[in-house]
Amino acid sequence: MKIWGGARLEGEVWLPPAKNSVLPILAASLLCDGPVRLRQTPRLTDVENSLALLRAAGMHAAWEGEDLLLTPGRPGKSALPDGPVRAMRSSVFYLAPMLHRMGEVRMTMPGGCRLGPRPIDIHLEGLACMGAAAVWKGEQLTLSAPEGLHGAEFALRLPSVGATETLMMAAVKARGITVLHGAAREPEVVDLARFLMAAGAHICGAGTSTIWIQGRERLSGAAFRPVADRIVAATVLAAAAATGGSVTLRRCVPDHLEPVLEVLARAGCCIRREGPAALMLEASARLAGAGWVTAGAYPAFPTDAAPVLAAAFLTAAGPSYFEDTVFEHRFGCAAGFTALGGRAKVRGRLLELAPAEHLQGAAVSAADLRGGAALAVAALQAQGESTIAQAGYIRRGYGDLAALLRSLGAHACWEEKTERKNERKQQAEGEKYFSEAGGISLP
Ligand code: EPU
Repeated sequence: MKIWGGARLEGEVWLPPAKNSVLPILAASLLCDGPVRLRQTPRLTDVENSLALLRAAGMHAAWEGEDLLLTPGRPGKSALPDGPVRAMRSSVFYLAPMLHRMGEVRMTMPGGCRLGPRPIDIHLEGLACMGAAAVWKGEQLTLSAPEGLHGAEFALRLPSVGATETLMMAAVKARGITVLHGAAREPEVVDLARFLMAAGAHICGAGTSTIWIQGRERLSGAAFRPVADRIVAATVLAAAAATGGSVTLRRCVPDHLEPVLEVLARAGCCIRREGPAALMLEASARLAGAGWVTAGAYPAFPTDAAPVLAAAFLTAAGPSYFEDTVFEHRFGCAAGFTALGGRAKVRGRLLELAPAEHLQGAAVSAADLRGGAALAVAALQAQGESTIAQAGYIRRGYGDLAALLRSLGAHACWEEKTERKNERKQQAEGEKYFSEAGGISLP
């Protein structure tokens, strides 16, 4: 991605549904006996990889405009393809639905952003309590439950978002009652529960640390629009704040952004709620330092927003300290910050920022999804041109971030080379199609 910094961002953004809601809900569609319509699904690489997994499991998936329509077909194979499994952490969401659908699932260790160790022990311990048996051969996991899953009382050793979602998906079709203690309380967990309940599941307490679930034999389908993406929201707010701009977020849930808004308000931004689903931010010319920000499990400051918010404070008037208690290596973007002229230092889980007078455009490289978006926010403040390599990471969670920033007045685009490569690929595909369809070749 290329960015020419210096423009003050201004305008309004309608937030898309949250990636971290859409991905578990896509996996949960495997639990449904009827069709599922996911409204306004964002076109993300992780969504495409999820569709590959769903199709391998025997689902029919088709886009209808912005909606995704998923209909159950004949159950596919119990082995999930390595490529999409390794491409994202969210492949772990297929364990429980596949157990219900096929009685067995085989997959390699899920991939995803390298933010430190990301084991799946809590997912597996919980599933074991519900009657699943795991066998590892190297990185290959086979999980089976020939007798089906049964309800259980299980305490998560830490409030893992993914494990809470896995165990909710296991419990909605297990025999009997499940009680999850120490569950994650993130809005995306609540959203998955809302989707499952729309399909007929009995769930009580989602959004608190104890969740009760009464298993049911069958779930119907449902039409559902997932909750707004609070991390895209935080990214837009950070971009506006970094450039002394002003932005209105629409279709958002301001309550979900509370800790992010608190940091921005403390730094001098003026924030106004405009009704239940909109808010406006107006930034001062130069932000004050953020002070100490600790990212943790909801309702604390969100870990995914830590790098993007930090980027807005590179040129702040005072120091900022961002500590992440969720992941060991959250701040892989620090090297890029420094290359752009930022005064960033990582000490363990802490990112320290000293005030820099100005940033200068540079060639940097994304280390992960949110870190890549953070480099974009940093580059918006830099003089001249910046190039972000490995920007494919960003497409995993933002669709077209360059277009989003452009809609607010930024100068941002995907590098021409990549665009031209895509164009050439499309043209070659077109030519192949026409020649196969009757020998017509394109000029
Ligand atoms: N953990 C374990 N064992 C487990 C599961 C988690 O030790 O079985 C540890 C992890 O290693 C980590 C901590 O628990 O240190 C929290 O991980 P959690 O399971 O909560 O995260 P996740 O489910 O893997 C989701 C989001 C992440 C987001 C985290 C925390 C999705 C698809 N991913 O990951 O999103 O950072 O929750 O909120 O929902 C992103 O969108 O860029 C992203 C990384």
